[in-house]
Amino acid sequence: MSTLPFPHSTKVIAIDGPSASGKGTIAARIASILNRDYLDSGALYRLTALFAQQRQIDWTNEEQIAQLAAALPVIFIEGKILLNDLDVTHIIRSEEVGMNASKIAVYPLVRAALLQRQRGFLTARGLVADGRDMASVVFPSAELKIFLTASAQIRAERRALQLGISVNSDEFKQILADIEKRDTADRTRLVAPLQPVADAHILDTSSLNIEESVQKILDWYQIIEK
Ligand code: DC
Repeated sequence: MSTLPFPHSTKVIAIDGPSASGKGTIAARIASILNRDYLDSGALYRLTALFAQQRQIDWTNEEQIAQLAAALPVIFIEGKILLNDLDVTHIIRSEEVGMNASKIAVYPLVRAALLQRQRGFLTARGLVADGRDMASVVFPSAELKIFLTASAQIRAERRALQLGISVNSDEFKQILADIEKRDTADRTRLVAPLQPVADAHILDTSSLNIEESVQKILDWYQIIEK
């Protein structure tokens, strides 16, 4: 897989971070404020996993899954995601699809198949891209690199709040266990593991809300713009 600097990547803000770190909401908001396009790279891994599941491909069949990734019949339109003309916007957000996405994300052939597709999102408008390896692999010469962190407990609590689940329930314990499991998978895989690059700004959002996190990143952005 190529990790050479991508020639047109300067107008990219790369936001990497673990599951449920709020990076999607934060990245989309920054893209809107700066009038840039937004890439949710995790959606491509989720779509690949869903497509493989629909086609009943064996999870160990790296080559076939990579072929599906290279030819994903996906359309992003008006906030919706269509796979083979079917609206999968909500289905791909399920925990099951997330886990399967994490499973296929370890395959180098799958990552290579999705690399150009991700870079293809960059146009003259500029891009805000979120994922696990935006700064390390996909856009290594991004003008601003952010690495979000927050403890698994805090991220689980945020997710439980969204779902209206009590933190004393068994369901909460399951959410926390799922987040920890996916963290381990994403951080310890051999290819493009989730880890900050040397020139990333680390942003611990444990005690910040979305607005404060967005503001902090915009402050950094203004410094590099000067
Ligand atoms: O960000 P997310 O939860 O939608 O991502 C789903 C899974 O996809 C995640 O567990 C790991 C994988 N992924 C990845 O390996 N690289 C990315 N750039 C984005 C997601």
